Amino acid sequence: MDDTGASAPRTVLLLGGRSEIGIELARRLAPGATVILAARKADQLADQVAAVLAAGATGVHAKEFDADDLDSHGPLVDSLIADHGPIEIAVLAFGILGDQARAETDAAHAVAVVHTDYVAHVSLLTCLAAAMRQAGRGSLVVFSSIAGARVRRANYVYGSAKAGLDGFASGLADALHGTGVRVLIVRPGFVIGRMTQGMTPAPLPSTPEKVAAATARALAKGRRTVWIPWALGPASVVMRLLPQFIWRRMPR
Ligand SMILES: NC(=O)c1ccc[n+]([C@@H]2O[C@H](COP(=O)([O-])OP(=O)(O)OC[C@H]3O[C@@H](n4cnc5c(N)ncnc54)[C@H](OP(=O)(O)O)[C@@H]3O)[C@@H](O)[C@H]2O)c1
Repeated sequence: MDDTGASAPRTVLLLGGRSEIGIELARRLAPGATVILAARKADQLADQVAAVLAAGATGVHAKEFDADDLDSHGPLVDSLIADHGPIEIAVLAFGILGDQARAETDAAHAVAVVHTDYVAHVSLLTCLAAAMRQAGRGSLVVFSSIAGARVRRANYVYGSAKAGLDGFASGLADALHGTGVRVLIVRPGFVIGRMTQGMTPAPLPSTPEKVAAATARALAKGRRTVWIPWALGPASVVMRLLPQFIWRRMPR
């Protein structure tokens, strides 16, 4: 048992092996587990590998992974299972915020954000869910966001990708009901960290450590969704009721 009360999984896969939130979560899931950190420039993950090993992983492996290369997803999942056995927990922690102002006129940039934050997730979740369904067990951790709860004018490109991802993950969770495979949809608000560097924090900000701790707890409890902080859940209900002329003025 780890400090969250969860049984130690055999194999944990972190897709986005350099993600601040992802590494914090991998540290919490590490005790007794084999952890695979999949990232671009996988030969430059020494710090992340050391952190997860120090947290109690029995083994940590770095694997080259580019989420945007959709054709690589199926072979990647197959090779990981061949090398390490069934994946118990897969955490999809890769993503980009993008440049909203640029995306409003540069179609290629808008598509790049949606490709990484939505399309690549759809592809990987489909590959991973199929493999886990075959194994009869496993958990998928998906990072949605408050940005997708009601899309704002100020970040509608990233927000639309998160809205799509949240909907896809929700439908997938229902499709997997009764198969032994679970989906946890994580909905953080503003997280003070690398992704939001230089931005003024939105109300109810969080940190990678807090997001990871709440995610590990929700995973151990078999929850389907978790808002971080929890107050964002009720806040999102109120957000949906605001009239559009107010909503369109909402900041990022
Ligand atoms: N931070 C927030 O405020 C916040 C709020 C709500 C939800 N979230 C979500 O939480 C998740 C984790 O975010 P974070 O705060 O941990 O962000 P982060 O520290 O910036 O990590 C994101 C990681 O995604 C990786 N990545 C981007 N494109 C990739 C690609 N094509 N292939 C492989 N890896 C790619 C980056 O890899 P490189 O190191 O190679 O660039 C980076 O390490 C994301 O889905 C994010 O949208 C974040």
